[in-house]
Amino acid sequence: MKILSIETSCDETAISILEAKGGAVSPSFRVLGDNVSSQIDMHIPYGGVYPALAKREHIKNLPLVLEKTLKEAAAKAGQAKLEIVRQDLAINPDIDAIAVTYGPGLEPALWTGIVLAKELGEKWGVPIIPVNHMEGHLLSVFGKNKGSFKIPKLKFPLLALLVSGGHTELVLVKKPASPRASLGGWMRYEILGETLDDAVGEAFDKVARMLGLPYPGGPQISKLAEERRKTKKQNSFSLPRPMLYTKDFNFSFSGLKTAVLYKIKDLEKSGRKLTQELITELAHEFENAAIECLTHKTKRAIEKYKIKTLIVGGGVSANQHLKSEIKKITQSKVKLFFPTKELSSDNSLMIGIAGYLQYLKNKKGLPKPESIKADGNLRL
Ligand code: KG4
Ligand code: ZN
Repeated sequence: MKILSIETSCDETAISILEAKGGAVSPSFRVLGDNVSSQIDMHIPYGGVYPALAKREHIKNLPLVLEKTLKEAAAKAGQAKLEIVRQDLAINPDIDAIAVTYGPGLEPALWTGIVLAKELGEKWGVPIIPVNHMEGHLLSVFGKNKGSFKIPKLKFPLLALLVSGGHTELVLVKKPASPRASLGGWMRYEILGETLDDAVGEAFDKVARMLGLPYPGGPQISKLAEERRKTKKQNSFSLPRPMLYTKDFNFSFSGLKTAVLYKIKDLEKSGRKLTQELITELAHEFENAAIECLTHKTKRAIEKYKIKTLIVGGGVSANQHLKSEIKKITQSKVKLFFPTKELSSDNSLMIGIAGYLQYLKNKKGLPKPESIKADGNLRL
């Protein structure tokens, strides 16, 4: 079947078309079309994503991204049916279902995708599959943005570390006792722990701002931290690792962010300028502290739940230091999955994958389109 998927939860307008085959055990996919239009440049002056602006940009970009993706898919499928037959999209171009992100995220932004999904669903007479964005990040590790891919047979117990601009959570992924037990999703999820304040990506972005680096700050901090790491120089100060030794699996990044702010103030008070060298050192120490918090709790969860498979997903999973530290704690005992660079940030392919898996389980019980609503705080 062919699934068109839409993602508009934050600042990326993304639409894909996937051809999906096979049952729940080892489904396979072929990418027929995939396009992302990023608004990052628009949000740079605000130092973060500005919801009303995000909504406006999604409304502007969605028709363009849709047309581009349909044309790409038509060419790839070699099928006249997939062509955009009429400008108003009144005729179904051979799509069997529409998957759309309905949360979590910025509600005005989410609605733009949902409204388009409902409009197309009605015109084309196809069902709509509402997808949780975080389940998308979890499944993104199996995808590729070109060609074909399969979801491999997975060993349980399975743990997911989901790290993005809005979330930081350690999730135990469980096989449902019966198909009905997981209606609305691929698996059953138990959030073992999560951030009590800022998400880790948010902390990267805020610290970057303090250091005068542009939004989004994660890649910027990471670049400077890698530079410093290569020099093998010791840092002249250390930053706290909040909640490192608490018995739970929760995180806290707000105190770490504030510690960076105080460090900058102290340095300024003592007459030191925020030189490039100091910025690089702060970036390095901040990254070390944040990643240590993530890996330490992940390691404990792996041990406690005798984890056989670890999935790391979300924007921060692109961080090289996180990747190498996670490799150290898993070694060869735990099968490890990270997304490709393209699929670590927000994209619609992951929504298509999650949509298909949900469809396989629940094709007869999908919600009525009119009941699908944006839920900014949706949980796994
Ligand atoms: O998953 P994502 O694209 O969007 C959300 O759903 O939030 O994640 C975006 C976040 C941003 O905070 C960004 O700074 C962070 O991921 N990020 C990184 C890196 N690349 C992106 N953080 C640390 N290191 C990176 N290399
Ligand atoms: Zn995301």
